[in-house]
Amino acid sequence: MSLQTAFRHRFLDVLASIYIYNEHRGYTSLDRVLEAVRARCPDNAEFIAAVEKHRADEEKHYRMFKRWFELRGKMPLKVDRTCGHIDHFIESVFGCTIEDLDTAAIVANPDEFEKLCRVIMVTEQRGMDQVDVLLKNKHILSDKAMKRIFEVVEKDEPSHWEPYDKWLRANGRRPNATWREKWTDYWIHKSLMLAKLPAVFVNRRNPRLTAWPDEDATVYA
Ligand SMILES: [Fe+2]
Ligand SMILES: [Fe+2]
Repeated sequence: MSLQTAFRHRFLDVLASIYIYNEHRGYTSLDRVLEAVRARCPDNAEFIAAVEKHRADEEKHYRMFKRWFELRGKMPLKVDRTCGHIDHFIESVFGCTIEDLDTAAIVANPDEFEKLCRVIMVTEQRGMDQVDVLLKNKHILSDKAMKRIFEVVEKDEPSHWEPYDKWLRANGRRPNATWREKWTDYWIHKSLMLAKLPAVFVNRRNPRLTAWPDEDATVYA
């Protein structure tokens, strides 16, 4: 195998491993968000349906990456929450992990609920920008299945942040990220791309998952 082919294989392997983590984290975290939205806006069927669709899409993305690994006959590399954009964002804004988010307190406090909507919105907008970049990457373009996955993600992404934006505007809440949120998002993105991804790339002893996270929720623990 030429050096360039080996590089390409490793790059796609690492990128897909980080993506599958984030997609899985996305749809499982959205269960918590759905809980909050149903409690906060019980009469807003449109908003609830949009969040349900968002959750279903993230699970679909997860399954596309899972299929990609299955076809290669490999399991994803085991990464942890240091590779999760939403993990860092929630920890920075709410000071706790996603698991420890107090949904009842967020539902009871309009300012907290507004922050939660904005964190999801900014994360999804970042995801959308990132997919545009990846769809110009020659390694991704050279892998037909991977390219197709990102084309589907690209098509779904706007419908993931728009409902939160719409709700914030309709309810007189701030739709634009604060400077602190913008800085946090920028910093998370840069550290993921410039530190975390290369660290997994060069770590030849990085283990692989031994089970799929949708079958065993503890595999990323
Ligand atoms: Fe996704
Ligand atoms: Fe998304």
